[in-house]
Amino acid sequence: MSKPNNRKNEHVSLSEKFYPQQVSSFKDIRFVHQSFPEMDVRDVDLSVSVEGLNFSVPFFINAMTGGSEWTGKVNEKLAVIARETGLAMATGSVSAALKDPSQEETFKVVRRTNPNGLIFANLGAGHGLENAKRVVDLLEADAFQIHINAPQEVVMPEGDREFRGWLTNIESIVNGLSVPVIAKEVGFGMSRETIRQLESVGVKLIDVSGQGGTNFAQIENFRRKDFKLDDFEEWGQTTAVSLLEAGDSAVNSHIIASGGIRRPMEMVKALSIGASLNGLSSQFMHMALDDVDQAIDTINQWKVELTHIMTLLGARTIEDLRRTDIIITGETAEWCSARKIS
Ligand code: FNR
Repeated sequence: MSKPNNRKNEHVSLSEKFYPQQVSSFKDIRFVHQSFPEMDVRDVDLSVSVEGLNFSVPFFINAMTGGSEWTGKVNEKLAVIARETGLAMATGSVSAALKDPSQEETFKVVRRTNPNGLIFANLGAGHGLENAKRVVDLLEADAFQIHINAPQEVVMPEGDREFRGWLTNIESIVNGLSVPVIAKEVGFGMSRETIRQLESVGVKLIDVSGQGGTNFAQIENFRRKDFKLDDFEEWGQTTAVSLLEAGDSAVNSHIIASGGIRRPMEMVKALSIGASLNGLSSQFMHMALDDVDQAIDTINQWKVELTHIMTLLGARTIEDLRRTDIIITGETAEWCSARKIS
């Protein structure tokens, strides 16, 4: 199938191009092995419930795409994977369909393919309550993600340059929407100050989406035709650092880990340092573009692998993982020390 040269298609193809360059931030997080688990694999419960959303496993397909013919087909593949494995799934930003209703189908295909699944709609923080309601209705969504992506916008040649009022938009959406709201970054991570600001306007679900996976400064920089903004490619906090910042600050919210999470071991590490769930984007894109049946098999294998890791850690539930012994090394430890995170 031909791929018209538009931004949505470029984001997918460039995330795939740069996928091999990802460097996980979880190498700095180590478990302390204890020789007596004192439990059986069958004792493990992988389910998570947050804000009335029930997940059978602690990971989901995070926001990526829709908005062009090709990415509509990609959304359909992702929705088949979600349906066959019971994973929740977010679409990419639905703003393309608000601007051009002929693109609605490229998002609605997700609900049609997976009528009973947990589905999240997504928009940027420049949007207000009315648009949030429209996209939730369009997808019959179970939750709404609002993305916060200032660094991506400034590197994007055609990106926004006006960033006032985002927190006010988020507050009005949290207060006015009938479904749970997830505030998320897009791979630049969060600080404890950001997390406190989000909590102060009532956000209960925060996806820190840090560095270590998809790098939107790199993607947008590659798309630039004029001068390049290479320095922005290092902007932000890693996912591990962002989770530790959240551990130091979040009191009323559940934290979601995303950004460079590609394997069960990374998921368990993220859960052990305070996440309730893991969102995976580029990893699932990589698998969906390759072979949907193989992706389904791999995900089912991951569920087994998660129970094995949790058994070795003596953790029956996701909550139990918070009590796991971990060691923090390297740059992550240096960051914690500089920010006085204990
Ligand atoms: C994204 N991401 C994203 N996020 C969002 O909130 N709205 C969006 O429309 C998109 N679009 C998008 C397209 C593509 C192709 C990718 C790979 C990612 C960001 C995504 O949800 C996530 O925050 C980051 O990609 C970090 O996670 P990974 O990719 O390292 O697992």
